[in-house]
Amino acid sequence: MKKLNVALVGTGFMGKAHSIATAVVPILFGSPVEIERKVVVDIDEELARNASAQYGFTEYATDWREVVSRPDIDIVDICTPNDTHAPIAIAAAKAGKHVICEKPMAMTVADAEAMYAAAKETGVVTMLSYNYRHTPALQMAKRLIDEGRIGKILTFRGYYLQDWGADPSTPLSWRFNKEKAGSGTLGDIGTHVIDAARLLVGEFESVNSIVKTFIPERPLPAGRFFGPAGQASSEKGKVDVDDMAMTMIKFANGVCGTIEVTRNAWGHHNQLGFEIHGSRGSIAFDYQRLNELRVAFADDPQDAFGFRTIYSGPHQPFGDKLWPVAGMGQGYIDIKSIEWYNFLKAIAENKPASPNFADGVQIERIADAILVSGHSGVWENIQQAGR
Ligand SMILES: NC(=O)c1ccc[n+]([C@@H]2O[C@H](COP(=O)([O-])OP(=O)(O)OC[C@H]3O[C@@H](n4cnc5c(N)ncnc54)[C@H](O)[C@@H]3O)[C@@H](O)[C@H]2O)c1
Repeated sequence: MKKLNVALVGTGFMGKAHSIATAVVPILFGSPVEIERKVVVDIDEELARNASAQYGFTEYATDWREVVSRPDIDIVDICTPNDTHAPIAIAAAKAGKHVICEKPMAMTVADAEAMYAAAKETGVVTMLSYNYRHTPALQMAKRLIDEGRIGKILTFRGYYLQDWGADPSTPLSWRFNKEKAGSGTLGDIGTHVIDAARLLVGEFESVNSIVKTFIPERPLPAGRFFGPAGQASSEKGKVDVDDMAMTMIKFANGVCGTIEVTRNAWGHHNQLGFEIHGSRGSIAFDYQRLNELRVAFADDPQDAFGFRTIYSGPHQPFGDKLWPVAGMGQGYIDIKSIEWYNFLKAIAENKPASPNFADGVQIERIADAILVSGHSGVWENIQQAGR
């Protein structure tokens, strides 16, 4: 296969993470297809210029429209705020480019469906960056479930708690703005838990939620609107997105679940986790201890029964390609690299990547139903794939 040229759009937090991943994926895994980091795009010219030098791209540009359909671009990597995902992805897919897109997929279900339709029409490979699912310990949880080690799943208890939104003086960045973000905590971090729940348990049938905004106004940023929350100005602006969503779930296979997500939980920096209880055992995972999977199996000896810890290493999925000793420590960039490896492998084999735009549409439908239920106060059914 010929070498594929990558155009990265957005040079912030995720632009940097994706750039490290594309640099190291050939070293860690032996890239399934050779790639070149060709063009980096940011609306802020200084950021684009700096990123091309610092992240290792050949060129930089400020308008994604002039880049994504260029004949020498093969892969478009979308790392911009949520309102730009649909227009960039649709233009790229229509031009026949493979697309990897940061989460959440889109601002609305309709936009997500349009992205999926555009990619389906040209048959390009798509990937959504629900990266936490690639964590080796989480993939180990999937392996144990698929092997029947915890029996029939009874309940799922998921959460994603952060604390950077808990301080009312945290400035009103794009993440608190419906026009830029679509939704708040739910789209930003809740969709990662929905992705994990679909992967490990199955499709959602219906949801019943409480959705709240705790801090209705915040100081406007004194400097840039994008990037890490910087200095606050004395002027205030309205927060028009959710700070918290608490959801009960009925899965299509009869499993019962809950998901709690908020960015207003002091002390929890990036705590994505879940417990899954089955008829023959339990599994627990917490991303702040991402190298550990806690398991309890009903057939363990009674005098040694209880949760025990599996430390991620060469025996867990992808571990053989990372570090040779268990407990040595895998991290965020390892996971982003696994994500990119999976994406490039799908391109090389001309197979769907996972999670792809079809998964993304379903996640958007679930997130939308959670917000609707937060207003209606009743159970909301989820439209199933293909309907
Ligand atoms: N998967 C994850 O773990 C994870 C973590 C953080 C953010 N995200 C997602 O990644 C995306 C980007 O978030 P971030 O934290 O990197 O944001 P950021 O604010 O750090 O960076 C966004 C960058 O995009 C640029 N930009 C904005 N509009 C643009 C446009 N029209 N054209 C070109 N460049 C543009 C900005 O100048 C900025 O440099 C979001 O969708 C977010 O939800 C995912």
